Amino acid sequence: MEVDALTTVLIAAITLFLAYIQFNKSEPDVHPLVLQQQSTPTLIRNEGESVIYRSKFISHTAPLLKLPNESRINTLYDVWQAGRAIDPSAVSLTFLLQNQFYLVNNTYEQAERRISGFGSGFVSLTGLKPKTETPVGIMAPYSQESFIAQQAFYRYSFVAVPIHDLKNIDLLIEVVSQTKLKAIIVSQKALPSLLHVLKECPSVKTIIVAGIYISAEQIKLATHYGVKITKFSSLEYNGSLDPLEPIKPAPDDIAMINFNTKSNSLSKGVVLTHSNLVAAMAAFSASLPAGKKFTSKDRLLSHFSHGDVIAIWLSSAIILTGGSQIFPSGLMKNVLHEAQASMPTIFASAPITLEKIHQALQLTYGKGFLFNRAYAAKLALLRAGRITTTSLWDFVKLTEIRGKLGGKVRMMVTTNPTQQETLDYIRAALGIHVISTYGRTETSGLTCCSNIYDYSSAPTLGGPVGCNEIKLIDYVEGGYTSSDAPYPRGEILIRGPNVMKGYYKKPNATASVLDKDGWFHTSELGAFHDNGAIELLGKKKRTRVSSLSTTDSSLSSGSGQ
Ligand SMILES: *[C@@H]1O[C@H](CO)[C@@H](O)[C@H](O)[C@H]1NC(C)=O
Ligand SMILES: *[C@@H]1O[C@H](CO)[C@@H](O)[C@H](O)[C@H]1NC(C)=O
Ligand SMILES: *[C@@H]1O[C@H](CO)[C@@H](O)[C@H](O)[C@H]1NC(C)=O
Ligand SMILES: *[C@@H]1O[C@H](CO)[C@@H](O)[C@H](O)[C@H]1NC(C)=O
Repeated sequence: MEVDALTTVLIAAITLFLAYIQFNKSEPDVHPLVLQQQSTPTLIRNEGESVIYRSKFISHTAPLLKLPNESRINTLYDVWQAGRAIDPSAVSLTFLLQNQFYLVNNTYEQAERRISGFGSGFVSLTGLKPKTETPVGIMAPYSQESFIAQQAFYRYSFVAVPIHDLKNIDLLIEVVSQTKLKAIIVSQKALPSLLHVLKECPSVKTIIVAGIYISAEQIKLATHYGVKITKFSSLEYNGSLDPLEPIKPAPDDIAMINFNTKSNSLSKGVVLTHSNLVAAMAAFSASLPAGKKFTSKDRLLSHFSHGDVIAIWLSSAIILTGGSQIFPSGLMKNVLHEAQASMPTIFASAPITLEKIHQALQLTYGKGFLFNRAYAAKLALLRAGRITTTSLWDFVKLTEIRGKLGGKVRMMVTTNPTQQETLDYIRAALGIHVISTYGRTETSGLTCCSNIYDYSSAPTLGGPVGCNEIKLIDYVEGGYTSSDAPYPRGEILIRGPNVMKGYYKKPNATASVLDKDGWFHTSELGAFHDNGAIELLGKKKRTRVSSLSTTDSSLSSGSGQ
């Protein structure tokens, strides 16, 4: 007993001493000046608008960032091929067999065979012609199959239409009817709902089940409506016996139509081209500082469904480096177990998941004396601008907690807003860097991302990434103007190569958000702080969204493009 107490006191004394030394000897992770200039503003501005903000890496006379450094990469197909070429025998995909946390790996070469196999099997079964902008539904979120299918559609130039809200049957019917889907890939779980509404989806001729079992009854029901139903794995196998040559997309070909925009009415499909998505990927990669960039060693565990555009640029960014991706079950209760089993280095998820992780860890460890000492010390270090995993506090306690996420996570990527306590906890207790992003489906899911070294509690999300420029226009009815103090405020307008082509077959809806100078009017409000970082202030009231002409005819000049 006595020895234990003495040891504890000794350890505490030594730790405090070392922590004290560490606080005092070390510089912050980045020079404070970097955080004071998070974007480059133009010097001039038009009446009724803010200045135009760009990434601090892109001057106002240069074109916006459109492609990754290697300019032969123009499409998502090119991205996959570039990643595969780095080391075909490297692990590319890791699946967690559900409820068992048992890992299965595919190398890039194996994944390539599955992609060409599935794509070839798909073409021969459905008879659909590649390169004709044919939309194909994918109703199988979080699955390896939806990834393989998406890659196959890039390879053979089909258009992916992700449907990730499996409970929303009205949306399903709406999407099918708007895009005249002829084929749908569906998870085992979502199959009954799809079959249930098959009568209302007369365009559908083929259903491909990403699962192991189709009942006789289900086959009968499909057949009744003249629909072919088959297993994903049989297509993969059949196609691999006689694989087709790729039929590559052009940069301006449509890669996906995305109906999952929560901020919009259900019925609008956002049309995104390969160029759009490649630009977002390139801009995200460029925004990571040296030493923090993705590498071939990285393993991405993303909880974003493949219907979320963020999942596309994130997974593309990892593929481009030859790194690997882990496919989780997407169930909250499995999050920690799956991370432990698969040991990711990059962890991506919505704020709610991070908050739940924080709560769970806090519940287990939050009352411990040692934890609280350690956390206080690490929090003080964080306030001094430092994140570390090698302090004595980590050794004594925090490495154990870090292990609950597999022990290897070095970066988290999330959207916004995440509670400040959660961000502090992740950075201080777990020693993990966090990047918060802001994007709209209409901007390929990425427009701003926070500086990885910005640990402040300011409610800002960094400046625009390299593929965007942003300005704020006055929203007079709401009382938001570019001459507001202390910061200019207004409706956020975004322009750049990641901005959508338009809403699918909805020219009027498109015209109401995309003006003739290429600015996308978000209907969201923002403020630019003095350090060039944006703060989001909510949405404009939906009074009259129409008539851009009143605000827009004068917007063009001075943009620097
Ligand atoms: C871009 O490519 C050039 C030439 O290949 C290389 O020197 C440079 O380091 C690359 N830059 C980045 C950021 O990768
Ligand atoms: C899968 O790949 C990971 C990392 O590349 C490796 O640690 C693990 O042992 C592999 N698992 C299997 C079952 O091959
Ligand atoms: C696979 O090929 C066999 C033989 O050609 C054919 O009978 C079967 O219908 C094919 N299955 C699929 C799913 O295409
Ligand atoms: C679209 O706008 C045009 C011109 O303003 C109008 O004539 C047409 O009726 C509109 N179409 C729809 C579907 O609202």
